[in-house]
Parts: sequence; structure tokens; C-alpha cells
Amino acid sequence: MYTGIQHLHSFLSYLVIAGLAVSIILALIGQFSGKPFTGKDRKLALLGLIPAHLQWVVGLVLYFLSPLGLSSLSGQAMSNSMLRLYTLEHPVMMILAVVLITIGFARAKRLRNPKKQYRSIWVFYLIGLVLILSRIPWAAWP
Ligand code: HEM
Repeated sequence: MYTGIQHLHSFLSYLVIAGLAVSIILALIGQFSGKPFTGKDRKLALLGLIPAHLQWVVGLVLYFLSPLGLSSLSGQAMSNSMLRLYTLEHPVMMILAVVLITIGFARAKRLRNPKKQYRSIWVFYLIGLVLILSRIPWAAWP
């Protein structure tokens, strides 16, 4: 069970990064070409949102199964940079990133000006992507 979830979490990371990158590029093209923000553009923005949502749920499950998750969280772990990354920095930063991505999507749905709608997608998704990239355990992945 642990190994399966670990592999799923690792694989989903590719979809999260690719989905966010595609959504950001499409939203930038949309903003600068002056097109209206249609239902199709909202669906394309889901390419960034859905993998990120799936990933945080899988990550949460993994946190309870992995020897690098909750079971390693302690005051002592904070003085070890690798354990601090897995037990605290990675989960907190990833959840923050997914919250920002969700806000960007929800704002775009609510706003009425197409330029602002596209901007809401690419700005919030880009901040989310930077936060994600900043706390991926690069020593272990890909
Ligand atoms: C967008 C969100 C996330 C991304 C892109 C992401 C990405 C990754 C990556 C690339 C790894 C390394 C995988 C490997 O070694 O093959 C990893 C490991 C891990 N992640 Fe995440 N993660 C996300 C969210 C979360 C969340 C929300 C949690 C916990 C609440 C979490 C908990 C973990 C744990 C415990 C590991 C270590 C697993 C192990 O090797 O035992 N992740 N994550």
C-alpha cells in the first residue's frame, strides 16, 4: 500500500508540473491576444487545478504511511534539513500552493473582465508552481 501510494505521488508530480505549465502558457496567450474568457478557457485552466488537487489528497495519505511523514515529525527532526523538508516544509508549502491555485481558479470564474480572468489564472498558478518547485525533494526525485 505504501509503495503504491509513493509511486502514485511521484507520477502525479509530473502531471501537476505539466498541467500548471500548460495552463500558465495558455492564460498568458489568452491575456495578450485579447480573446474573451470562455467556458473552454475555464476547462483548460482545470488542467492545472485537477492534478494539484489529486496530488495533495494523495500526499496527505502518504504523510500517514511514509516513514518520512508524520512518524518522523519531532523537535529533533527540525535540526535535520532532510527530515525537516519531508515532515514540515514540503507538506506546508504544497498545501499553500494548492490553496493559491484554487483561489486563482475561483477568482477567474467570478471576475467579468477577460484580461483579469486570464491574469488571475497565470499569476496564482505561477506563484503556486514556484512554491511547489521550491520544496520538491530534488535529491530523491525524479
Ligand atoms: C502539489 C502538491 C505536491 C507535489 C507536487 C509533491 C511532490 C512530491 C515529490 C516529487 C516527492 C518525492 C517522490 C519520490 O521520492 O519519488 C514527494 C514526496 C513526499 N510527499 Fe509530496 N507533493 C505534494 C504534496 C504533498 C502533501 C500535501 C503532502 C503531505 C501532507 C506530501 C507528503 C509527501 C511525503 C510524506 C513524501 C515522502 C514519501 C516517501 O518517499 O516516503 N506531499 N512529494
